[in-house]
Amino acid sequence: MVLLRKDIIIIAVFVVVVVLEVQTCFAEINRGSFPKGFVFGTASSAYQYEGAVKVDGKGLTVWDKFAHSFGKVIDFSNADVAVDQYHLYTEDVQLMKDMGMDAYRFSISWTRLFPNGTGELNQAGVYHYNNIINTLLANGIEPYVTIYHWDLPQALDDKYSGWISPQIINDFAVFAETCFQKFGDRVKHWITFNEPHTFAVQGYDVGLQAPGRCSILLRAFCRAGNSATEPYIVGHNVLLAHSTVVEIYKKKYKPKQKGSIGITLDTFWYEPATNSTDDIQATKRAIDYNLGWFLEPLIVGDYPSSMRTRVGNRLPKFSQAQSLALKGSFDFIGINHYTTWYAKNDTRDIIGVLLNDSLSDSGAITLPFKDFLQPIGDRANSIWLYIVPRGIRSLMNYIRQTYGNPLVIITENGMDDGNSPFISIQNALKDEKRIKYHNDYLTNLLAAIKEDGCNVKGYFVWSLLDNWEWGAGFSSRFGLYYVDYNDKLKRYAKDSVKWFKNFLAST
Ligand SMILES: *[C@@H]1O[C@H](CO)[C@@H](O)[C@H](O)[C@H]1NC(C)=O
Ligand SMILES: *[C@@H]1O[C@H](CO)[C@@H](O)[C@H](O)[C@H]1NC(C)=O
Ligand SMILES: *[C@@H]1O[C@H](CO)[C@@H](O)[C@H](O)[C@H]1NC(C)=O
Ligand SMILES: *[C@@H]1O[C@H](CO)[C@@H](O)[C@H](O)[C@H]1NC(C)=O
Repeated sequence: MVLLRKDIIIIAVFVVVVVLEVQTCFAEINRGSFPKGFVFGTASSAYQYEGAVKVDGKGLTVWDKFAHSFGKVIDFSNADVAVDQYHLYTEDVQLMKDMGMDAYRFSISWTRLFPNGTGELNQAGVYHYNNIINTLLANGIEPYVTIYHWDLPQALDDKYSGWISPQIINDFAVFAETCFQKFGDRVKHWITFNEPHTFAVQGYDVGLQAPGRCSILLRAFCRAGNSATEPYIVGHNVLLAHSTVVEIYKKKYKPKQKGSIGITLDTFWYEPATNSTDDIQATKRAIDYNLGWFLEPLIVGDYPSSMRTRVGNRLPKFSQAQSLALKGSFDFIGINHYTTWYAKNDTRDIIGVLLNDSLSDSGAITLPFKDFLQPIGDRANSIWLYIVPRGIRSLMNYIRQTYGNPLVIITENGMDDGNSPFISIQNALKDEKRIKYHNDYLTNLLAAIKEDGCNVKGYFVWSLLDNWEWGAGFSSRFGLYYVDYNDKLKRYAKDSVKWFKNFLAST
């Protein structure tokens, strides 16, 4: 067969196309796959990282009291020392820089600035956060600052039961405004609250987190509380505190400081356990009671209708002015997302009788299993954390379609390994499972952005270091860096550090 010149060109073009196709198919994702300006960072919180709980005038928080109460933390540990970032931050900033991270999300401890929640400012606290912020900026790392990450001043819990009282709105606003005044010349990204849904439910409905209030299961677990009312009151006061603070920032600080402000909401994704209309509707309710509870007021100025109708007069109401202030009170929505569960209709209202709380109000039973046998995905160490990478794409699309495609930043995503005394450090550093987790979640996130048009501008890994995981104490290791709790809290890079370093260096 004689090949003509034209044929050769056609074949050559064909070969090039095939090679390109194959390359695209197998192309690994890296920083360059994401839109220009997309921010990569790691996340942390003051109580889980800092330690030094009584150093330099710091006041105690509800978590200090809770962690020191018998039986509240699974390994009987507390966060008095945590991973001592209070003293080791200079080293930790180098770890971020070495990985090529753009940003660091951390929180400011309310009781370092105001030991009793209100009153006189503790200058040592201001000095400490100035040092962290300046160190980050000197190393080219952008601070993303969470103002409230669960560490309520114990003094305010004693004084008026913390978030249960609307009195807290003003005290929180003073604390937040102090942050803008002292740090806003350099901090350009503010997050008012971390995960209000989780601290309302865990702290005031099921009582598994500080301050440990509940009434479920015939009050067997908590000394005080009302699971049918308090989570909603807490959520309501948090939302009002959020919009109050955003208004202060936008009026008095943003014009000069030119930063942005948002809130971080946590949410699972939910898939219907079957395709019955009932389970599909239950899935929508499960999402409403997790994400919509806080996101819908920020978009439309009221709670989802599934909450209004089912919770009735136990759900507080917004005045017209409050509703107006809430609507659009954000520059971005932070989303903490880790896992996906199944949802089904609570046909016999079993949990309603046992719990009489926000979980039973939803009328949805959510589980990581189907038919009591089939797990939805591979499990991490935490009993709730199943690995379902497609979930993040569905979630991003749900937010785009339901809430008008607001600017989203993934402020947490990650997985944990257990803390076993029988695993050598060397073996604990081999975290292929974590690498696959981030690769697969990032691949789905990228598809949500590029193929579906979701408005996502950043991704923060939870977490930079292994740290104190609330009720799970030190039993759970979420870090890219391993922390040796037996040897001066030394940090060691896990394999995922190398993976991220390579990911961030390639474009
Ligand atoms: C905090 O309150 C305690 C107890 O009322 C008091 O002794 C202490 O002086 C207060 N500290 C500050 C910094 O206001
Ligand atoms: C659930 O709690 C609310 C608020 O305390 C109460 O009014 C209601 O009677 C309770 N319902 C049941 C079934 O116990
Ligand atoms: C529900 O329907 C979808 C689309 O028709 C299908 O992909 C899925 O497997 C079904 N789920 C169940 C649990 O039957
Ligand atoms: C769904 O559950 C509710 C009770 O929570 C019940 O009234 C309703 O009939 C259920 N749907 C079906 C099809 O069982």
